[in-house]
Amino acid sequence: MNREEWVNKGFVDEPVDKSIDLKAAINELKKEKNAVILGHYYQKGEIQDIADYIGDSLALAQIAAKTDADILVMCGVHFMGETAKVLCPDKKVLVPDLNAGCSLADSCPADKFAEFVKAHPGYTVISYVNTTAAVKAVTDVVVTSTNAKQIVESFPKDEKIIFGPDRNLGNYINSITGREMLLWDGACHVHEQFSVEKIVELKAQYPDAVVLAHPECKSVVLKLADMVGSTAALLKYAVNSDKQRFIVATEAGILHEMQKKCPQKTFIPAPPNDSTCGCNECNFMRLNTLEKLYNCLKYEFPEVTVDPEVAREAVKPIKRMLEISAKLGL
Ligand code: 13P
Repeated sequence: MNREEWVNKGFVDEPVDKSIDLKAAINELKKEKNAVILGHYYQKGEIQDIADYIGDSLALAQIAAKTDADILVMCGVHFMGETAKVLCPDKKVLVPDLNAGCSLADSCPADKFAEFVKAHPGYTVISYVNTTAAVKAVTDVVVTSTNAKQIVESFPKDEKIIFGPDRNLGNYINSITGREMLLWDGACHVHEQFSVEKIVELKAQYPDAVVLAHPECKSVVLKLADMVGSTAALLKYAVNSDKQRFIVATEAGILHEMQKKCPQKTFIPAPPNDSTCGCNECNFMRLNTLEKLYNCLKYEFPEVTVDPEVAREAVKPIKRMLEISAKLGL
C-alpha cells in the first residue's frame, strides 16, 4: 500500500478482489469498527442501498449530531463530511472519495465571501449548507433547503440579511417570504441546466404528470413546478400523492429512492439543456463507489479534517440551525 499516493489521489486506490462479496464485507467491517454509513439521496443507488441512513442534507446533519458510532462514513460530498466532522470533532469522519465535491460550494470561495460579509456591516449572514466549513465560520446561521424558509422567517421582517451561496434558492426564498436578502451569486451547475422547453414538451406529452423541482433550479423552471422542495420533501410528496407520473427536476439520484418507495409510479428525470443524456447526474458528487467504500472502511482513509479554529466557529451556525429546526419540528 502506498499512503502517499492515496493522499494525492484522495481515495484508496487499491484494486478490490473480484471474488469478495462487497456488501457482506462492508457490513462486516462496519460492525467490527462500530461505524455508521450515511448516504445522501444523490449518491449512486448501490451506495444508497448499503447506507444505514439515507436522507437530505438536514437529516444527515441531524443524524451525525446524534450518532454514538466511533467512525462516521459520509457517503456524500466533501462539505457534508466537513459538517459531520465539525459536529463530531472526536470521531473519525471518512468520505470514500475526498474529491466528491459540489459546484455550488465551489462557487463561494471562503476568502471572497468573508470580504463580501465585511463590506456589509450590520447584516445577518445566512448560508446554505452547501458551503465549506470556512464559509460557515463567517456565517450566523446555516440553512438547508428543508428549513431555509422557516429560518429566514424566524428573523424580523426588516432584518438585513446576506444569503449565500445559491442565487436561485435565495431568489426563491425572497419570492415566498417577501424579503429582499442580499444574494451571493453562486449556483449548482446541475440545477442550472434543466431545460424549460424540454419540461414543457414532456408536460405536453404527459399532461397528467406532476412537476417536482428543487429550489436550486432557476426561477423559470420553478414556475413550471407543481411542488418545490428539498429532496426529502419531493420524495414525501411523491409517496403521498395519488398521481402516477412525475417529472423530477433535481439530481437524478433521488429517483432511486422514489422508484423504490413507489414501484408502481413513473418518474421521469427532467432533461438538461445539453441533451447528450436524458437525465441530469452530477459527476462530482457520484465519485463514491462500493469499492471505495470498502477500502475506506478497511484502511480508515481518507479522513475529513477541519482546521480546529475554523471548526470552533463553523459549529456555531450549524448548531443554531439544528436548534431552530428542532423547535420548528423539522
Ligand atoms: P437537500 O437539502 O435536498 O439535501 O439538497 C442538498 C443539495 O446538495 C442540493 O444540491
